[in-house]
Amino acid sequence: METSHRKKLIVANWKMHGRLHANIDFLHQLRQALKPHPAVDYALCLPYPYLFQAQQILENSALAWGAQNVSRYDEGAYTASVSAKMLSDFGCRYALLGHSERRAVTKETNYSAAQRIEHALRAGITPIYCIGETKEERLGGLPNMVVAHQLCAVLDLNDEVYALAKQHQLVIAYEPVWAIGAQVAAWPDQVQSMHQFIRKIIAERDPQFANEVRVIYGGSLNASNAATLLSMPDIDGGLVGRASLNVEEFSRICSYYAIAVPA
Ligand code: PGA
Repeated sequence: METSHRKKLIVANWKMHGRLHANIDFLHQLRQALKPHPAVDYALCLPYPYLFQAQQILENSALAWGAQNVSRYDEGAYTASVSAKMLSDFGCRYALLGHSERRAVTKETNYSAAQRIEHALRAGITPIYCIGETKEERLGGLPNMVVAHQLCAVLDLNDEVYALAKQHQLVIAYEPVWAIGAQVAAWPDQVQSMHQFIRKIIAERDPQFANEVRVIYGGSLNASNAATLLSMPDIDGGLVGRASLNVEEFSRICSYYAIAVPA
């Protein structure tokens, strides 16, 4: 298998799953299954109430943890919001931002995702910025335009924030909405060409960052299709929903790189 110089990243997105008691075994088993590897990072983005538990169980393991959103405010009268600084208190290394389920359910926009990214970065949290077109947009021949627009909302943040994005290694997660929670994932060739396109857009502004940025894929990634998707040269890892709810399956996805890239 050919691998790029970029360190790989596999992220579990638990969405609204997990229970306090059941998580104990799950997190211990995952900790046991995933060993540190110089070429791969692993992370688990879980609901806010379980961040403390993740911190307790996963500290000093191969697995980092993170949240699934960040407020666009620092603090104040914003009932139900959770700030980036609060997430830092629980050792979060990552946060998902702009996930399509947030865009669909609470009408988050590119602009609000960009604001959230800025707050995450200022708290030293690595944003995983989720972008991707809907089925209608793909059928209408618009996927590149949509993705470019989503991407530029973040690339066009001011110079100071952009510098922070590089410093904290902003991650892009390409998640075509039609492939999330679907029967099948996107085709590896489709994903590869979109990831190349994403890198090209970034390269127009910053060739060095385009070469370094990790672009991961999400959308029905599982243990059966991981090898074909993750072996594509511009796919630097995965964002895994359903298949991350099973320790064995998630570990198998994670092991793809650990086996392919000698330690
Ligand atoms: P899925 O979810 O793997 O269940 O398709 C991925 C995601 O929404 O991040």
